[in-house]
Amino acid sequence: MNTLKALNLGSKFLKKNNIETFNLDSELLLADVLNFSREKLLINLNYKIKKKKFDKFKKSLLRRKNNEPIAYILKKKEFWKHTFFVNKDVLIPRPETEIIIEELLEEIGLETSKYLLDVGTGSGCIIISILKERSNCAGTAIDISQKALNVAKYNAKIHQIQNKINFINIDIDKHIYNKYDFVLSNPPYINKFELNRLDSNVKSYEPHLALEAGVDGLNLIRKLILKSKILLKKRGKLIFEIGEKQVNKSKDLLLRNGFYINKICKDIYLKPRVIISTKL
Ligand SMILES: C[S@@+](CC[C@H](N)C(=O)[O-])C[C@H]1O[C@@H](n2cnc3c(N)ncnc32)[C@H](O)[C@@H]1O
Repeated sequence: MNTLKALNLGSKFLKKNNIETFNLDSELLLADVLNFSREKLLINLNYKIKKKKFDKFKKSLLRRKNNEPIAYILKKKEFWKHTFFVNKDVLIPRPETEIIIEELLEEIGLETSKYLLDVGTGSGCIIISILKERSNCAGTAIDISQKALNVAKYNAKIHQIQNKINFINIDIDKHIYNKYDFVLSNPPYINKFELNRLDSNVKSYEPHLALEAGVDGLNLIRKLILKSKILLKKRGKLIFEIGEKQVNKSKDLLLRNGFYINKICKDIYLKPRVIISTKL
């Protein structure tokens, strides 16, 4: 079996099973099995695949057919400028979360030294991306899930940033250290009714702890704002992601808790997705 034939078989199989990105997924899965880049795969269409590798490719195709996200099968996801290890214990990093990185890098000059808290670190993608670019900064990453924290620690090690992050397995409610310049978070913000309506690849595979936040989806956002009031230094900033319909309620909560709202950032669909606020 050569790569061209295997790719075509894979695409056809995924298409038949209603996977919309059938061509791309077939390429990514085969490239991964062969340990090739996608480019290398596409210029080696006559490469002869060993049986063991082809069997592995078939296993990956079966997982994808069942709607398992490609990032979990490949065990990696690109975020900002880096590749992060991911597994079913963590949310797959999303492009809209990169808004937090963009905004924070604007806030922190290259030589500045700041101390950050990442609440609900998951794969660690937020704090690691920032600390890779701001070598004088350091921070704490907390998560209620020990398994998620293990993934974040592993990513910090891969990206050689582990000495700059203090990892703590704790509920934001119980975290007490209070000297942060910035609190950052992409909290869970989906309400439990919406959760049932999510695509099956998200609902069935991604950790519910990373997605769901009570009846109105604001459970974690409420805790985050209340806690940040205590955890931030005066004039410290709270920067967090929200669901597209949560901007008014979040603004309200911030104002009632003594925050000034600096900016509401929109995603590429022009939906409000990140709020930057200052503790007064
Ligand atoms: C939406 S995920 C974000 C993961 C990662 N920061 C990202 O942007 O890809 C939310 C994370 O918050 C964690 N979490 C949920 N409730 C929490 C709580 N009460 N305290 C701390 N972390 C919590 C979950 O385990 C999950 O890893």
